[in-house]
Amino acid sequence: METQKIAEKFRTLFGTDGILYASAGRINLIGEHTDYNGGYVFPGAIDKVVAAAIKPNGTNKVRAYSFDNQEMAEFGLNEEDKPERHWACYVFGVCREIQKRGGKVEGFDTVFSGDIPIGAGLSSSAALESTFAFALNDLFNDNAIDKFELAKIGQSTEHNYCGVNCGIMDQFASCFGKAGSLIRLNCKTLEYQYFPFDPKGYKLVLLDTCVKHSLASSAYNFRRQSCERAAAAIKKNHPEVDFLSDCKRVWLDEVRSEISEEDFIRSEYVIGEVQRVLDVCDALERSDYETVGELMYQTHFGLSRLYEVSCEELDFLNKLARKHEVTGSRVMGGGFGGCTINLVKEELYDEFVSDAKKQFAAKYGHEPKVYDVVISDGARRL
Ligand code: GLA
Repeated sequence: METQKIAEKFRTLFGTDGILYASAGRINLIGEHTDYNGGYVFPGAIDKVVAAAIKPNGTNKVRAYSFDNQEMAEFGLNEEDKPERHWACYVFGVCREIQKRGGKVEGFDTVFSGDIPIGAGLSSSAALESTFAFALNDLFNDNAIDKFELAKIGQSTEHNYCGVNCGIMDQFASCFGKAGSLIRLNCKTLEYQYFPFDPKGYKLVLLDTCVKHSLASSAYNFRRQSCERAAAAIKKNHPEVDFLSDCKRVWLDEVRSEISEEDFIRSEYVIGEVQRVLDVCDALERSDYETVGELMYQTHFGLSRLYEVSCEELDFLNKLARKHEVTGSRVMGGGFGGCTINLVKEELYDEFVSDAKKQFAAKYGHEPKVYDVVISDGARRL
């Protein structure tokens, strides 16, 4: 990403130089909607980032300029100072969440910009939160806040200032990302493990439908509630259960008549998906990419038919991938639009991508955007 424009804008606006920080968007190979269910996820940071120039300004006010919106927001650091602009709430939320944890934040000036497509399921908002969490920890707190807490600061920002009851995956990936490695995280215990990921002879490519659903955050929150209701019903029989990820499939069957059919099928998907992450990791250790790919297709089926977070355009691209014998393909991230992630043999790549563009454009009037995935580092000072 071109950081020079940020540095220059900062100088123009504030007459001095800021310090540059960045944090990454993410992909997720498998493990979708499992994080808030205490299950596993398997993300990695990518080479698309949010970058910011920042400098303390000696006041108790923040002056933040969004390069991409060409807008300035000015706000204080108390709870009642919440800004009106949605993008500014991410910056404000991070400041507040640091303060709530006893950390220090004073006034600062900032200019930020990103090259992560918004609404594509690549976690541009987590990257924004992680950039500021990392920077404010460095600038005002001598890096006393550990990386997990930085990820939680981003997550709480979503919960308390942006209206999404998300899990920890995106902020975790953005803070912990490492070039060349995916990270398997147990979202209940927060144990994690890096898996070097370099599938010889294959490529990972994202196809962005460019579909964005405005009701995605409330639909997301509803999915989470379904899972929590089912887990609470199961807990009555099995007190050790805190999350759906703790449940055996038969335990779900036991409560079938007590919960709604919708809650049942949502939970059925989640319990299957938690296991699929482990199966994918096993297959990767054997370099068995065919199995990895098959499991990705299973996830797509589950997300589309059981969890119902896909859409027509995503299903179309998934079907087309099958037709081209793409090894694995599925909707990625929260869903309701955004991208499919595709694991494709190198020799099939060109034909698949060009046909996907052609067929998709013929049906929906525009081509999907194509992003090659490079697994990269997470939050950092540049
Ligand atoms: C969004 C949320 C994550 C996760 C995914 C689905 O990206 O922010 O916490 O729940 O959806 O896997």
